[in-house]
Amino acid sequence: MEFRQLSSDHIDQVMGLEKELFGKEAWSKKNMLSEFVAPNSFYVGVFEGDLLGYAGLRLLPADLSGDITTIGVAKQHQGRGIGRALVQELVSRAKRSGAEQLFLEVKKSNESAIYLYESFGFEKIDIRKNYYQPSGEDAIVMRLTIHQPVVLGIESSCDETGVGIVRGNRLLANALHSSMDEHAKYGGVVPEVAARAHLEALSPTLDRALSEAGITIDQVDAIAVANGPGLAGALMVGIGAAKGLAVATGKPIYAVNHLVAHVGADVLERGAVETPTIALLVSGGHTSLLLVRDLLEDVELLGETIDDAAGEAFDKVARVLGLPYPGGPQIDRLAQSGNPSAIRFPRGLTLPKDLEEHKYDFSFSGLKTAVARYVEKAEAEGVEISKADVAASFREAVIDVLLTKALWACEEHNVKRLLLGGGVVANARLREEAKRRCDALGIELRIPRFALCTDNGAMVASLGAQLIMDGRELSGLSFGANSTLPVTQIQTL
Ligand code: KG4
Ligand code: ZN
Repeated sequence: MEFRQLSSDHIDQVMGLEKELFGKEAWSKKNMLSEFVAPNSFYVGVFEGDLLGYAGLRLLPADLSGDITTIGVAKQHQGRGIGRALVQELVSRAKRSGAEQLFLEVKKSNESAIYLYESFGFEKIDIRKNYYQPSGEDAIVMRLTIHQPVVLGIESSCDETGVGIVRGNRLLANALHSSMDEHAKYGGVVPEVAARAHLEALSPTLDRALSEAGITIDQVDAIAVANGPGLAGALMVGIGAAKGLAVATGKPIYAVNHLVAHVGADVLERGAVETPTIALLVSGGHTSLLLVRDLLEDVELLGETIDDAAGEAFDKVARVLGLPYPGGPQIDRLAQSGNPSAIRFPRGLTLPKDLEEHKYDFSFSGLKTAVARYVEKAEAEGVEISKADVAASFREAVIDVLLTKALWACEEHNVKRLLLGGGVVANARLREEAKRRCDALGIELRIPRFALCTDNGAMVASLGAQLIMDGRELSGLSFGANSTLPVTQIQTL
């Protein structure tokens, strides 16, 4: 016996069986075909040369649930455990997708099927009168409650201490402590200060996360931690804490990639990360453009900054303009009253000569210097400048480069989806312009809620949960911090 995912190639075999089994209640060929290709649907057949049985599942990721839509076994092969094997296949598929509940309808008179479903843990929850037509027979509605893993995630790659808790694809808690204020007087994140702050913040943030989720540490099934990329000293604090917790409680540990976790966070919004997607991650620490073909299997770095990160550029230019740290929100506010086309600042790495080697890389240091020159020159000449115009023009230059390259990537790789992440996503103009350009190109734009865009523990927990639901191996205790962890290494074993 062999399982195969069903496609239009199998339609005649499936329709043959469907008619034999369901007679007048059989689905039409057209319906069956559209079910095979519907998004989030999964149809599987059991073959032994011929088709012996088939079953279908429709997932509703946003509801974290699914429906078993059909199941049928050829009459002469009933009693061989084929139905059980099919149900098993659908249930494990639903589990892996993060579903918390699985529903089905079954004929009231079909006692053997009801018995089979009950043996998987399905319960009768409702009755639908006259559900089957034309026979008018009642349907019993059954529900399986699936326990998804509760995962606690620790994030400490930069200046945010994050502890998040998820159950499968559901967010339970997202506690955060930021040491940003401690870095303000230096105008940027100081690694030693960040590491020290993580040490102090971790235990209270962990307590807050557990109380937010309303659980104790015993109810956690696994620990996840970001082990890179990021500041080595800062990462080590989170990793040390995660390993300590894992050893003390005997829970398995999963070391995950911080950048991939940013992308995975979208699952907490709508129950699934739809791939392929281009992801643009922009924060004080990174500017990375990723092609995500499969979140757990295939993430490719298309490009990244070769000097300053996008958020860092905002912070540095803010300083030039005499604004406090962090500069992003300050510039964003000031820019509202400025003219974005007042000054034409350079768009780094967008000239034809740059495109061969750096099509998807970013450079903001030239832009930062251009802003500084502009301000210095005006001061030297005693000319009054409009800081709002400078802020608006600078912001426009950054956003233009970010979005132009992200959309080139969508076009070149024929990907109709763009996901944004990182603290710079707070930028009002970036969001607005991203929406405008994506709409014009028919590209679906995804921006998770802001608390999931900035560095946080929930995204780490979520990627851990997705690895667990997919049945991946745990990490062991020998992994360390890797400040330059490549995105291709989604999990460190
Ligand atoms: O993701 P995030 O909170 O974490 C770190 O990188 O640590 O990003 C913080 C960065 C800072 O550089 C900040 O200036 C920038 O995001 N940022 C903004 C805005 N809000 C925060 N940049 C541009 N516009 C904003 N509204
Ligand atoms: Zn980050």
